[in-house]
Amino acid sequence: MSKTIIVSNRLPVKLTDNEGEISFTPSEGGLATGLGSIYRETNNIWIGWPGMEIGDEAVQQKVQQELGEQNLKAVFLTQEEINHYYEGFSNEILWPVFHYMPTYARYHQQYWDYYYAVNEKFRDVILQNMEPGDTIWIHDYQLLLLPGLLRSAVPDATIGFFQHIPFPSFELFRMIPWRVELLDGLLGADLIGFHTFDDARHFVSAARGLTSAISSSNEISYNNRNIVVDSFPMGIDSKKFHELTKEPLVREYIAELKKSFENTRLILSIDRLDYSKGILQRLRAYELLLQLNPDYVGSIVLYMIVVPSRDNVQQYKELLDEIDKTVGGINARYRTMNWQPVSYFYRSLPVEELSALYATAEICLVTPMRDGMNLVCKEYIASRENGDGVLILSEMAGASKELSDAIIVNPNNIHAIMLAIEEALAMPLAEQKRRMQLMKEIVMKFNVSHWVKLFMTRLKEVKQMQVSMFARHISETSGNNIKRLYANAENRLIFLDYDGTLVGFSADIEMAAPDEELYTILEKLAEDPANRVVIVSGRNPEFLEKWFGALHIDMVAEHGAWTKSAHKGWQSLPGLNAQWKKEFFPVLEAFADRTPGAFIEEKDFSLVWHYRKVEESLGELRSNEIMSTLRYLAEDKGLQVLPGNKVVEIKNIEINKGKAALSFLQEGAYDFNMAIGDDYTDEDIFKALPSTAVSIKVGSQVSAARYSINDYREVRKFLKFLAGSNVFNQPAALAAKEK
Ligand code: UDP
Ligand code: G6P
Repeated sequence: MSKTIIVSNRLPVKLTDNEGEISFTPSEGGLATGLGSIYRETNNIWIGWPGMEIGDEAVQQKVQQELGEQNLKAVFLTQEEINHYYEGFSNEILWPVFHYMPTYARYHQQYWDYYYAVNEKFRDVILQNMEPGDTIWIHDYQLLLLPGLLRSAVPDATIGFFQHIPFPSFELFRMIPWRVELLDGLLGADLIGFHTFDDARHFVSAARGLTSAISSSNEISYNNRNIVVDSFPMGIDSKKFHELTKEPLVREYIAELKKSFENTRLILSIDRLDYSKGILQRLRAYELLLQLNPDYVGSIVLYMIVVPSRDNVQQYKELLDEIDKTVGGINARYRTMNWQPVSYFYRSLPVEELSALYATAEICLVTPMRDGMNLVCKEYIASRENGDGVLILSEMAGASKELSDAIIVNPNNIHAIMLAIEEALAMPLAEQKRRMQLMKEIVMKFNVSHWVKLFMTRLKEVKQMQVSMFARHISETSGNNIKRLYANAENRLIFLDYDGTLVGFSADIEMAAPDEELYTILEKLAEDPANRVVIVSGRNPEFLEKWFGALHIDMVAEHGAWTKSAHKGWQSLPGLNAQWKKEFFPVLEAFADRTPGAFIEEKDFSLVWHYRKVEESLGELRSNEIMSTLRYLAEDKGLQVLPGNKVVEIKNIEINKGKAALSFLQEGAYDFNMAIGDDYTDEDIFKALPSTAVSIKVGSQVSAARYSINDYREVRKFLKFLAGSNVFNQPAALAAKEK
């Protein structure tokens, strides 16, 4: 039976060494606690680091065996690896940059070398445990290279990746020296999940901006594979937290807490020690509250748990000192004989104690500077048995997108946090219950099993989509079938688009000139008397004449406004009018004047606004603006405004590549029709051809064409194959998959 292999840097349990006695304790942090309750299902396994260095092989074996009983598999790391891969690259580069604190980053080459090597180490352990049909689910920023490394080893593996921390905006991400390698690693996955839509959006723009990936909404096409990027907000085991409060041990703790804090109102704060959590800012807000409201002295307590984390990393050590000092300062300034404003604990707590705190505290203060999701706030909500309590939540936490009934604050605004605490302390019970009820419904429904189910279902769908796309992609088999049809035909009509189909795109339109290889291919096709080859392009007649005039081929220019048959000269479509250009040119010019890199191309019967050299999003924004500005005016004048590959083209509505193709079709009795094109305008040819025709879309699979092919290089290989060469040289990955 196939299984799911969960892979994360840290296992859900960690080893601790008590004077030579090794024992297991639960790991801290959202990843381990969130997934901890679901991995045990069936024969699934979890691969990860057990949290401390174990050098001795005999001990390693013993640990491996004990972990095996819990479906866990250890990846042992040396102290050097822990220092450079975990503390170094993961927590001194990726963590700060991904949490919008790039000044904390230390870009050391050695960190990168170890990061790469440890990701390879994880890959090797997966390979030892993986069987055909298994699903691999990789988690978090410590393993960004792993999807790619695994993909190279097992090209058809099913690989999901989920990132538990934010994905920063492109401008921050691009600061990392190894940014392209990181993206290339991630893009080895089939499905890439983030907590929020913004994270997913940032990832897609980084992939588009820094690699050759192209995207259409949340689908990315990279290295001949289609990858889906989506948001899956993670939930908690909400039933467990809901029910924990009824446990006798938890009831005992609740009673003790109530007794110790009789007549005081508890404000709870629970985080791992981390500068991303906004702990110091929270303390300052609390101090401001006491300073401005002396009435609260003696009646409220900030109950603050800081869970030890990454304490070998310099910034974490400094933060701990700073927290110690700040708490000490507040307590020293405001304490009374029998009251202390902050009850501060620097340690981790068993879940029963956490549950008791969640159930008792009137207010939960969750104000991270940045947080992928934040599960503490969801655990608080699930633990409110009477439906009262107030959650104060940072707008920088992923959870704020779902829990909009919390009091939402900007964690940088100390005054706003203070006001939020005042508001929470004064909130009437009915209002508390109203908000809590709404949030509880969300937390109970979108729980962690729901999250797993959504992710896994989507991963299956992505795999199915890849298979169906693969079926349309011209393979060795379908290539051979087409070649047989070609060989048996006596009268062939072949339509070929130019830009993007026979040559690649170039920022300078005059640069996209044909090369030797293309001439050889076209000559070879044209010299066969059974072939009629037609280049159907949006280019003007002068361009086509200059480069192809000497060949024995037919041509269609400006999408059908001009036609040249071998036996006749250039002829324009009768009845076309170009008067409208005078009116439209200044509008396009105004857009070009405020868009650096944009320019206008004037053809006989159309105008084209080019934006290939314009900053990516700006170009798209402007092209949308042009289309909405000109749409109605164009319709009135019988014109069409068409989006193309980094262009917007305005032309007469009667001009259409499909109509042009039809007139060729009607001129003879062809027993083999083929069209290859990459653009929106080529769809008209695909639709005009008979259903038996070989229509091939270059690039994307969303098309009326019967087949697809990756790029102009593959088109050339395919044409060579048709015209005589023996092998259709398809990419290695596809050939391997087909066997
Ligand atoms: N937690 C824990 N031990 C503690 C305190 C908290 O294991 O002593 C858990 C807490 O229950 C929560 C997780 O740590 O599930 C923190 O996850 P969150 O997403 O809030 O933050 P992260 O630590 O992942 O940044
Ligand atoms: C966050 C990260 C996890 C990490 C956890 C604890 O939740 O997303 O990947 O495991 O913090 O950090 P640690 O460095 O102790 O594993």
